[in-house]
Amino acid sequence: MNEVLDRAFGHPRGLLGRLGGALMAHGNAATEHHVVEVAAPSEAETVLIIGPGPGVGLEAAARRAARVVGVDPSADMLALCRQRCAALIDRVDLVEGTAEQTGQEDGSADVVLSVNNVQLWPDRTAGFAELFRVLRPGGRLLLSGHEKWLPVARHALAAEVTAAGFTDLQTWRWEPPGPFSALAAQLRAVKP
Ligand SMILES: C[S@@+](CC[C@H](N)C(=O)[O-])C[C@H]1O[C@@H](n2cnc3c(N)ncnc32)[C@H](O)[C@@H]1O
Repeated sequence: MNEVLDRAFGHPRGLLGRLGGALMAHGNAATEHHVVEVAAPSEAETVLIIGPGPGVGLEAAARRAARVVGVDPSADMLALCRQRCAALIDRVDLVEGTAEQTGQEDGSADVVLSVNNVQLWPDRTAGFAELFRVLRPGGRLLLSGHEKWLPVARHALAAEVTAAGFTDLQTWRWEPPGPFSALAAQLRAVKP
């Protein structure tokens, strides 16, 4: 990813980051909502969202779950999340961190969601180990990634998730509605 795209989308910061945040909030909204629908958190559950960006999925999860934690390395994106979730902020925690270092306790999450960022993690082995650690036994992991913009092979991801200890893997492709939609590769797994 070149420097401009990284500032706008990969590691959003400054003016470009805020512009990127606005574009992602629009362009990725259908996928963010879809992933929350598939995960179907109950009103008693805690959802950990990795890389929420502008917070569309975070807000959707906060409307359903008891507690939602958003972990993102970008202070600018966390500020957008705070704005978007202002009315639900009593059940939302926003944490500066990464997939590799979420700052969460062992077994503290029922559901972990990651949309369009697994391809940006510098160390996916460490990232999946961390998500395995913070999920409770029986907890669900759901990943989604653009096939076009941030490509990653589904079978490679599936192998990495399995190596981290997850089971009951399912992978599929999902096409968001709309003329400019980008096909998503998605994966679901369970911590045994
Ligand atoms: C392309 S944006 C996607 C945002 C949102 N989920 C969406 O689909 O619109 C990538 C997000 O992942 C975050 N990110 C980058 N590296 C990360 C890492 N190692 N762990 C967690 N999040 C990361 C970025 O700060 C940014 O908010």
